[in-house]
Amino acid sequence: MRASRPPSSNWVSRVARPSEYDRFADIYQVWTDTAASTPANLSFYVDAYVSEPGPVVELGVGDGRIAVAAAIRGRSVVGVDLSVAMLDQCRLRAQAAGVLDQLTLLNADFRDFQLDQPAALIALPYHSLGHLVALDDKRRAMAQVFSQLRPGGRFIFDDFLMTPLLIDHMRQVQLRAEYQLANGADALLWVTSLVDEASHSIKVVTWEDELDSQGALVQRRYRRLSLSWLEPSQARALLTDAGFVIESCFGDFAGTPFADASAHEQIWLARRPT
Ligand SMILES: C[S@@+](CC[C@H](N)C(=O)[O-])C[C@H]1O[C@@H](n2cnc3c(N)ncnc32)[C@H](O)[C@@H]1O
Repeated sequence: MRASRPPSSNWVSRVARPSEYDRFADIYQVWTDTAASTPANLSFYVDAYVSEPGPVVELGVGDGRIAVAAAIRGRSVVGVDLSVAMLDQCRLRAQAAGVLDQLTLLNADFRDFQLDQPAALIALPYHSLGHLVALDDKRRAMAQVFSQLRPGGRFIFDDFLMTPLLIDHMRQVQLRAEYQLANGADALLWVTSLVDEASHSIKVVTWEDELDSQGALVQRRYRRLSLSWLEPSQARALLTDAGFVIESCFGDFAGTPFADASAHEQIWLARRPT
């Protein structure tokens, strides 16, 4: 059982399912700070939240990387996440930025989250739908998003656009970051991925090496994340099956219309019909 939370106006705990992110939360900021794609997806989503006058919800809010930046620009956001540890990081980040009162954090699953009021915008950033590995679970999440939007409300999400080049890159062992741990020790963060093209599944494997002052290995800690990706045709079918009208698909976070030859991502903007 998870520790229960103290009553708080901006914390609603409704689910107690284990999450791989509970063991990933302490390196998540290093992870995003060293990812090539995060500056572009950050400004894309923050702009979308800030320009939406109605209630905004971020699914998989994580450590609040996007939601807190939007709150600093005056936007209130409801953040939904399965991982209590990630929500703790989000609360700390919001507190440090002085915007905790603009966030409502909900410990819930993409497949069955329930909002107190219908949303005008629900966003699911940074390939996070991929954490629902089975196609049926992605379908359930889309249906749930549809049910929690007000008529005319928008759903925005992005997914990997898997290419042979990206698959090769993910399969390489890479030194992702060098930093210091809370105890002052040097640490190296390594990553590689097992990619199965037949099932569209990805297992991200990271290992963090803690070194002593002589550079000798003190301990190694592994963390893993499970993902899968959709082909663009599958994403389109899931959205339309759930009842959405697709407004746009972009191939990058600058808003370039999707084209097979030039796209780096698949970013879907869909609307629940009025
Ligand atoms: C890649 S992180 C994205 C965090 C943040 N949106 C960002 O862009 O930095 C994915 C987040 O989704 C959450 N998550 C994964 N599966 C989930 C599920 N089934 N229901 C709710 N949250 C989930 C994880 O705990 C994690 O915080």
